Amino acid sequence: MTRTLTLPRPDDWHLHLRDGAMLAGIAPESARHFARAIIMPNLVPPVVTGDQAAAYRHRILAVTEDGFTPLMTLYLTETTDPADVVAAHQAGIITAVKLYPAGATTNSASGVRDFDRVRGVLDAMAEAGIPLLCHGEVTDPEIDIFDREAVFIDRVLDPIRRRTPGLRVVMEHITTADAVAYVRSQPEGLGATITTHHLVINRNHILVGGIRPHYYCLPVAKRETHRVALVEAATSGDVRFFLGTDSAPHPDDAKLSACGCAGCFTATNTLSILAHVFEAAGALDRLEGFVARNGPAFYGLPVNAATITLEKTDTPVPYPARIETGAGPVTVFDPGFPLYWRVL
Ligand code: DOR
Ligand code: ZN
Repeated sequence: MTRTLTLPRPDDWHLHLRDGAMLAGIAPESARHFARAIIMPNLVPPVVTGDQAAAYRHRILAVTEDGFTPLMTLYLTETTDPADVVAAHQAGIITAVKLYPAGATTNSASGVRDFDRVRGVLDAMAEAGIPLLCHGEVTDPEIDIFDREAVFIDRVLDPIRRRTPGLRVVMEHITTADAVAYVRSQPEGLGATITTHHLVINRNHILVGGIRPHYYCLPVAKRETHRVALVEAATSGDVRFFLGTDSAPHPDDAKLSACGCAGCFTATNTLSILAHVFEAAGALDRLEGFVARNGPAFYGLPVNAATITLEKTDTPVPYPARIETGAGPVTVFDPGFPLYWRVL
């Protein structure tokens, strides 16, 4: 028996497309299924000015089909010019600004060390209605890696939001019950993206029975109780939670290394996995909100008019184990269970 599910075309509110040969190789994997995506700016060097964002946007459009809209972001540094941010937003070049605490993750060395030094930019963003997208982890070496998100909320995020009350904030790729609770506790101005992989794996998947580099990402997956809290949030119908895959390709040789890179590449099979997760939670009717409605509502954008249809099949849906790119092969995220939903 087959079943189908038709949704407005989904959007990805957190995506890494990289540049050059990697961009050309992996961008079609997202453009095939998604209408829009918030594009992360952590290139080498990072996208820090409106002009750089405009140029990067052109490079993305050159390798994607019509119908895919990249929504650009700027990488916040301690020397970001508030006037450039506001001008780029007014010109329609950027949608948001990304905060990386310095050293938190891939290509974050130019991120923020002293949060007092970005006050002026945050004030200008609040005034202009430009959202701040947070990589929510402290980088203090004293703080255990599994606690870094919860500590970020107390030490950095909540103080920033109290000091800049009008600032709209997205906690990106949340991984803890603490983050879910913080979002729920706030009356307004705060949303959160949840990745596909954090709905599927916990830290045992990374470490039990051998180390699995393809499950290593940042923020690192936490214990099972946190994964369950994320599934509960994503499938709850609460409009403050929406999909940001954080699909983050690295060539296999960079993942399978003594010091492997952080990132799970889920663009290829994300919708099949999400349909599985939502169905298992008895919440297939809420998939549409999570992938296609809650994000646009937060960003004040229309829901996509185009649609996409998923079909449930009796036999597992094949998908490639890796995508060959000019920058090397990229392994596609393995959810660890067969997928029966496919995108028609
Ligand atoms: O796992 C991750 N990979 N987390 C991030 O925050 C960055 C990303 C990347 O750019 O590879
Ligand atoms: Zn990311």
